[in-house]
Amino acid sequence: MKMISHLRKLLGDFDGSRRTADDIRGVWTPDTLKQILAEDMPGTEVMVVSNREPYIHTLVDGAMTVQNPASGLVTALEPVTRACGGTWIAHGSGDADWQMVDEQDRIAVPPDHPEYTLRRIRLCDEELNGYYYGFANEGLWPLCHIAYMRPMFRSDDWQHYVAVNRKFADAVAEEARQPEPLVLVQDYHFALLPQFIRERIPGATVVTFWHIPWPNAEAFGICPWREEILSGLLGSSIIGFHTQSHCNNFFDTVDRFLECRIDRDPSTIAVNGDISLVRPYPISIEWPPKPLERQAPVAQCRAAVLGRLGLPETIRLGVGVERFDYTKGILDRFRAVAALLEHYPDWRGRFVFVQVAAPSRSKLPGYQQLQADAATLVEDINQRFGGPDYQPIVLLARHHEPDQVFELFRAADVCVVSSLHDGMNLVAKEFVAARDDERGVLILSAFAGASRELHEALIVNPYDTDAMAEGLALALTMPPAQQQARMRLMRDRVRDRNVYRWAGHMLLDAAHMRKRLRIVDVLPVPEAPGSRIPNLAA
Ligand code: F6P
Repeated sequence: MKMISHLRKLLGDFDGSRRTADDIRGVWTPDTLKQILAEDMPGTEVMVVSNREPYIHTLVDGAMTVQNPASGLVTALEPVTRACGGTWIAHGSGDADWQMVDEQDRIAVPPDHPEYTLRRIRLCDEELNGYYYGFANEGLWPLCHIAYMRPMFRSDDWQHYVAVNRKFADAVAEEARQPEPLVLVQDYHFALLPQFIRERIPGATVVTFWHIPWPNAEAFGICPWREEILSGLLGSSIIGFHTQSHCNNFFDTVDRFLECRIDRDPSTIAVNGDISLVRPYPISIEWPPKPLERQAPVAQCRAAVLGRLGLPETIRLGVGVERFDYTKGILDRFRAVAALLEHYPDWRGRFVFVQVAAPSRSKLPGYQQLQADAATLVEDINQRFGGPDYQPIVLLARHHEPDQVFELFRAADVCVVSSLHDGMNLVAKEFVAARDDERGVLILSAFAGASRELHEALIVNPYDTDAMAEGLALALTMPPAQQQARMRLMRDRVRDRNVYRWAGHMLLDAAHMRKRLRIVDVLPVPEAPGSRIPNLAA
């Protein structure tokens, strides 16, 4: 007993003296991350695992082309991995990917200036259909977003999900050069991976980040494999969500379905003596964003975009940019544009909304239906309010590279992010980052995590068409001084809470947990069988 209270005191003192993200002043940069790694985790090997790869090789008209995928995960993780170095393990999804790798399926990236290794994983059609399209995107995706699409759970898909998670765990074990690597596991494609990694590499520190919302316990409870998913995730040393409310939902879910000890104050869950820290880490973008360096002044961007679209200089421009996904509220914003033109006929002929929607997961019926519905709705609205020389909505249903997206952001008067539910939504932050002229208005869904940080946006309920139309009318008449005041505050926040801080915060917590476990390991304290930590509740 005496020894345990001594250990408690020691750990308490140790926790109190820890370095946190708030102790680091100034704007976070890649060097801040490098410094944290060097000082708090010297010599540690860093590995990232995600489904989506950061660079996709494809053949376009016979020529090798590199594509940057439309993915918030990649937008955030790529600059972080460039700073940390190491290995990123991901599914090789490009039709020309395998022409570019070595015998170990590795390639140094970024292609024009390599800073880390990309290890591509081969998945056959069966694996992809079951693990990615099936369990991840027809099961977990609608389950976690609650956007009124019924989740589908098939045991075949689940078997593939388990098998592919094991396959990635094997790849992590193959790539690891050290017994104690830091493995950053990304997203809902890999709920089981943390546990599988722990079985293969017991000394690994696994930090898992869940990029999408976590629903309440009752909603999550319909998943037939809920216990397996929770146990898999709890193989992580740290589990991160974007917001505190997603963490709270996760705590409640684990509490309802697993035997565990939950401690809300240090924010931990202990199962069979293994402990996981569960915390919010609001994700962000690099600052300054790379595509901004290559942009022309705002007036030129505007002229270029209007010119390409064949629109007169006087037109006021709204934009939306996302993957073609039913969680993004694309139809809802089209209806709001129609309501604006209905309620404020003055805007007819003077306002155009441009929607970039990159086709995504198009094999799935729900996504095909959305694409068809969007095309029909645009046609209806354009017929109702347009004419031979005026189309109020322009739908560009194709992938745009980051430079093109930034140009569009800089050309716009208003950007609409109307997600029905979204973990964070980095488009909102990218729009703000693109506007170094401090102009433009952001209309932002209250159900996107970004609304917890970008308070100066016009916050709307995307299910309320009339309120969104009012938001559009307000945005289009907002005086420049007010646009500037709002934009300035939002830009300051995105700069200060950039993606290097997001990653640094997790690295500092991971470093702390490693050191804590080492203290525990050297002290002769009785532990529960199979446990990595002493039972401090005893
Ligand atoms: O942000 C959620 C997310 O699923 C990411 O994990 C992913 O990279 C992105 O959306 C794009 O989806 P996908 O990788 O299925 O194209």
